[in-house]
Amino acid sequence: MGEIKKGYLKVFGMILGCLGLCIGCQSGSDRQEKDHIRIGFSQAMTTDEWRQQMDKSMKIEASLHPEVELMIADAHNDVATQIQDIQSLLDSDINVLIVSPIASEPITPIVKKAYKKGIPVLIVDRKIEGESYTAYLGADNIEIGRTAANYIVANQSGSGKIIEITGLKESSPAYERGLGFSQIIRDYPKVSVVATIDGDWEKGSVKEPLKKILAEFPDVEYVYAQNDRMALGAWEVAQSMGLEHQLKFVGVDGLNTPNGGIQLVKKGMLEATVLYPTGGNEALKLALQMYQGETVPRRNLLNSIIINKMNAELMENQMDKIDQQQYIIDSQQQAIRVQEAQYTTQRNLLFGLLFFCLGSIGLAAYSIYSTVFIKKKKKELELNNQTILQQKEELEVVTEKLQVSHRARSDFFTGMSHEFKTPLTLILGYTEALLQNPKLKDLHMVSDIRQVYYNSNRLYRLINQLLDFRKIEEQKLKLNVAEIELKPFLNQLSKFFATEALKRHIDFECSCEPETLVLHADRDYLDKIFFNLLSNAFKFTPDNGCITVQVQQIAGSEIVIRFRDSGIGIPESELSKVFQPFFQASNNHRNSSGIGLYLVKEYMELHGGRAAVHSKHGTEFVLHFLAGDAALPITTSGYQSVVGSLEGLMEGMAPLDITEGQPSPKILSSQERYTLLVIEDNRELVTFLENKLQDEFEVLVSDGSDALSKAQEEIPDVILCDVSLQYTNGFDISKQLKQDLRTSHIPILILSAFSNHESVLQGLESGIDMYLTKPFNFSVLRQSLHTVLFNREKLRYYFTHNIYKIQDNDAEFNSSEQKFLTKMNELIEANFENPDFTVESLAEALNVSRVQLYRKVKALLGHSISDHMNEMKLESAKVWLAAGKMNISEVAYKLGFSSPNYFSTTFKAKYGVSPREFQIQLRSTQH
Ligand code: FRU
Repeated sequence: MGEIKKGYLKVFGMILGCLGLCIGCQSGSDRQEKDHIRIGFSQAMTTDEWRQQMDKSMKIEASLHPEVELMIADAHNDVATQIQDIQSLLDSDINVLIVSPIASEPITPIVKKAYKKGIPVLIVDRKIEGESYTAYLGADNIEIGRTAANYIVANQSGSGKIIEITGLKESSPAYERGLGFSQIIRDYPKVSVVATIDGDWEKGSVKEPLKKILAEFPDVEYVYAQNDRMALGAWEVAQSMGLEHQLKFVGVDGLNTPNGGIQLVKKGMLEATVLYPTGGNEALKLALQMYQGETVPRRNLLNSIIINKMNAELMENQMDKIDQQQYIIDSQQQAIRVQEAQYTTQRNLLFGLLFFCLGSIGLAAYSIYSTVFIKKKKKELELNNQTILQQKEELEVVTEKLQVSHRARSDFFTGMSHEFKTPLTLILGYTEALLQNPKLKDLHMVSDIRQVYYNSNRLYRLINQLLDFRKIEEQKLKLNVAEIELKPFLNQLSKFFATEALKRHIDFECSCEPETLVLHADRDYLDKIFFNLLSNAFKFTPDNGCITVQVQQIAGSEIVIRFRDSGIGIPESELSKVFQPFFQASNNHRNSSGIGLYLVKEYMELHGGRAAVHSKHGTEFVLHFLAGDAALPITTSGYQSVVGSLEGLMEGMAPLDITEGQPSPKILSSQERYTLLVIEDNRELVTFLENKLQDEFEVLVSDGSDALSKAQEEIPDVILCDVSLQYTNGFDISKQLKQDLRTSHIPILILSAFSNHESVLQGLESGIDMYLTKPFNFSVLRQSLHTVLFNREKLRYYFTHNIYKIQDNDAEFNSSEQKFLTKMNELIEANFENPDFTVESLAEALNVSRVQLYRKVKALLGHSISDHMNEMKLESAKVWLAAGKMNISEVAYKLGFSSPNYFSTTFKAKYGVSPREFQIQLRSTQH
């Protein structure tokens, strides 16, 4: 993963590189930005061509310097606007300020401000007051005034009278041009200025005053105007007065434009004009120098020249050339701008392409790198996988070995525990028998025997706990929920502890509120829970202490059972561990397995309930069971209650009860006794059963190896069969016996050490009649034997009294027995007439031996087969005689009797009347 990250970083680095390149290019343009020169030009106005030319030439010059940004602000001949313009230019961070002031005085402060700020200031054309500027550029206006005067003086040929028209008074050129002019004129007495018109540089300011002056001085020779526009205005006035050929006009500016001075000279409207160059391009050059910090002259004067007919053409040509060149420059500049735009577009495109290419190269490199990397990683992973697989296989082998070993231990453990059960059964059985023996009743040793019984019972419980612990580990504990009346349950259980309580003067009390409280629980586990908690309480409560069990219903949804004792208690810090397996409290110095309370918790959780513990002045265990709607659904079925009742009786029985005993069975004669086949390979148990049952049963024994043949030969009345046999399995034997027609009727009781539900179910599926678990209570075993035999008797009675009514589809009977009897009866009926049809013939037809047939019929019907055959014939005789269609001899022969007399004798023996008397009785009842 770290490698992939590195890969990404590399590509990212490359892209950054590209970006860096672009930024590099960009920073190139930033450098340009740094050299970017912002030149601000405050222009007085742009209404006249002179100013327009000035702007134009400045722009052309600026275009030759790409680093220059020229900003021109037009003040429209308004002083206030010009002040504002200059301020705005200052605000836009200009590097150099060029000002052509409208008037000197009002513009001075703002220019001073700029200058003080450190911005180089260039004043062009008109001047300001004072010295607060860097340089001035413009033609020498005094000299211009002189040039004009000298020209007039030189060419004067008439009256020598001059009208002077000045520019705007507040502007320096007006004053200077006037000054220069007067300096010359005053030296020539023949030449004089007869009138001065105060103009404002524009035509309009000339016309009216000139008309008046001309009217006054009709012999004026020259009109001198301080610029060509005002000179043209004067010419127009003269023309309107028809004086245009009489007067001579001299102007200033000398522009090469259609209405400019040069053209007016060429047309003969002006005699001469003094060239007053705009200096636009020079101004820009000078501004650049100032920006670059070069020392520039403070006064920069532009050359001037007089233009008249003699040189107007030449000047025009030269200026045209200049204009043409400027036009070319302009076009080239335009072309350059287009090229620049294209260049910018192409450069951007190139950058884009470069970026894209670099990106693609980066991605390609990365994909190559990734492929190599992934291959490498894949190899590494494959190697890792192999190692993991190997380790997995090794682990599986080890796990398998561990499992086998664990299984073996577990099986050994379980097997041993089951092994303990059989000798325990015997101990319990023998001690129980001893306690019930009236001969020993008064002997002193009875209390010792009772202790043996009591402790065997405890041992049995401990073995069961060990087995349960194993089942929890294997998650095999299952609930068998029954409805348990808590009051009787508690009474029965408390009996077990009553003796100890009495002996040790322990105040032992149980209460149940309400008394009719019923709990849905597994009786077996409930018994274990109660027994464990009570054993615990008795174990840790000192003599003269107190133990209470309190059962309560809480708000209908919960049943709470409290076990309180006044024992040593459990240290507070250990309470949370009480229900952990193998817990041993630090103040408990007695031996204990430490699994009892763990099992209580597990049993409780199995019931959906919980167990809690408190310890203050003794210990209190609290069981919370679900009740009401939340209670567990009942699942118990018949066989389970048998197991339950057996174990309940066994476990709940206090040693005291046993002495109460049961009447000894009366000894029966061999004919009265039932035959019992005990299939069991444990000799001690067999001996015990033989001894205990021989008075009531004729006990036959099989270790399992010959169980089937013995059962088939002897056809016992009842079979008691163990499950785990050395040679075979009790369930298989039961199944085969139940499937065999000869033995199917024999009731079978299974006696097994396995009390789990699966085993019980397996037993019932093999057709057995009852399932008992070891260690068994002998009384229960004996009673169970009698119960199944009694049930068999009931069946026999039913068969005997319904012998002709039994149908194949009669569900009340065991179907194999029913089938057997039906088939047998059909065979008998079909052979009524056949005198040679004997019991042997019938046995043969039914595929059983004569003895088997005899025993089976005896077991099912309670009498011999020959009696049964006779009975069937006589019953048919009754029916036929009653029908009245046959006489006595016919009936006798039809039923296979050798003579009518023998038939009559047999009939009378059975029914107490002869066939004839039966007929007479029948007729009399009919009438
Ligand atoms: C243009 C102009 C010129 C003149 C100059 C004096 O506005 O009037 O004709 O020579 O200004 O500043």
